Amino acid sequence: LSLCGRTQIVKVVPKHIEHFSKFSPSPLSMKQFLDFGSINACEKTSFVFLRQELPVRLSNIMKEINLLPDRLLTTPSVQMVQSWYIQSLMEILDFLDKNPDDYKVLGEFVDALVTIRNRHNDVVPTMAQGIIEYKEAFAQDLVTNQNIQYFLDRFYLSRISIRMLINQHTLIFDGSANPVHPNTIGSIDPHCQVGDVVQDAFHSAKMLCDQYYLRSPDLILQEMNKKKNLPVSMVYVPSHLYHMLFELFKNAMRATIETHENSNNLPPIQVMVSLGGEDMSIKVSDKGGGVPFRRIENLFSYMYSTAPAPQIGEYTRPPLAGFGYGLPISRLYAKYFQGDLQLYSMEGHGTDAVIYLKALSTDSIERLPVYNTTALKNYKVSQEADDWCIPSKEPLDLRNYKVANHACSAV
Ligand SMILES: Nc1ncnc2c1ncn2[C@@H]1O[C@H](COP(=O)(O)OP(=O)(O)OP(=O)(O)O)[C@@H](O)[C@H]1O
Ligand SMILES: [Mg+2]
Repeated sequence: LSLCGRTQIVKVVPKHIEHFSKFSPSPLSMKQFLDFGSINACEKTSFVFLRQELPVRLSNIMKEINLLPDRLLTTPSVQMVQSWYIQSLMEILDFLDKNPDDYKVLGEFVDALVTIRNRHNDVVPTMAQGIIEYKEAFAQDLVTNQNIQYFLDRFYLSRISIRMLINQHTLIFDGSANPVHPNTIGSIDPHCQVGDVVQDAFHSAKMLCDQYYLRSPDLILQEMNKKKNLPVSMVYVPSHLYHMLFELFKNAMRATIETHENSNNLPPIQVMVSLGGEDMSIKVSDKGGGVPFRRIENLFSYMYSTAPAPQIGEYTRPPLAGFGYGLPISRLYAKYFQGDLQLYSMEGHGTDAVIYLKALSTDSIERLPVYNTTALKNYKVSQEADDWCIPSKEPLDLRNYKVANHACSAV
């Protein structure tokens, strides 16, 4: 960009963000996603919806990026991410005054979305790099940590949703049918066979595990289908399900192998897939020694990750443990369509990780962050005194205790 062009952008961008962040994002249901891709799929309708909705989602989260602590916001990595968001917002806004009836415009829009998707490929490792730079330079406090956790959960969930919209439009309207999965609608499989995805994800994790440890535990898979005696099937995005299961399997395998290092037999990883009236749940159970209860919450933290600095572009980390985002990001995929992911562990024994998804496509509706005064308040919390006593590590001095008690009864 020329200097003049850049000044121009600096001036107009905040106005656009201000404008579009005043709208709430519109969460789509699984059914609406399917309708966009059904026989009467209309590229024009999708285009008109996206050229408004994408700026709304981008602007809502850009308002929150601006609320990050200055020392994090000004790191080169976060600046880079922010510049990608600005660039992409401007590229979509270019389409606001274009004619939806012009097929050339529609084609250009698909191309623009592909460019945007590629631009944002490395957002997660780049943001993680920013956090590491920040952690190295500044002492952390509880409030900042909570703010960053709150922000990143919302930021990554927003990113998942934006990529979902882009993927659906580009997959459905790029003019060619999906040769690998002819029955999918964009990235959604109306008959997603959950057991098959479990097998696929297990197989991939097993290959990594074999490469790294030269052995791997087996899988025992069971399915419960309340309604019929058939394998469990649902309307879902198989790539999201695969992502979550792959992460859980890598964790379960690593824990299993590291706690049974000196044993010839590895206890298998057991998976239960269960379809009820409301929930479709998947439990992944390992006998990998578990995690102390106190640490469970930290496993979902972006700040407490123990992993070394990720090297953007060249992933030289051990294959079964990366930079500690496996669990938190998987939980976001589950939450995206109103599900959840929880860990139940018994230290000394093993861990059950459970993915909860909505069984009915009518309940699977996007869960999206919105920028408003409630969100704003969450960034403004200050360090306050705890309303629970802090247990003392010192031995109790009984003499002082008695004196204090006497003083009390005297009043
Ligand atoms: N099934 C499990 N048994 C024991 N510990 C576990 C289990 N799952 C996770 N953990 C612990 O939680 C930590 C965080 O897991 P998470 O998947 O988020 O990150 P990671 O495995 O360290 O790296 P990444 O998944 O990004 O490659 C792990 O490092 C491990 O210590
Ligand atoms: Mg992991």
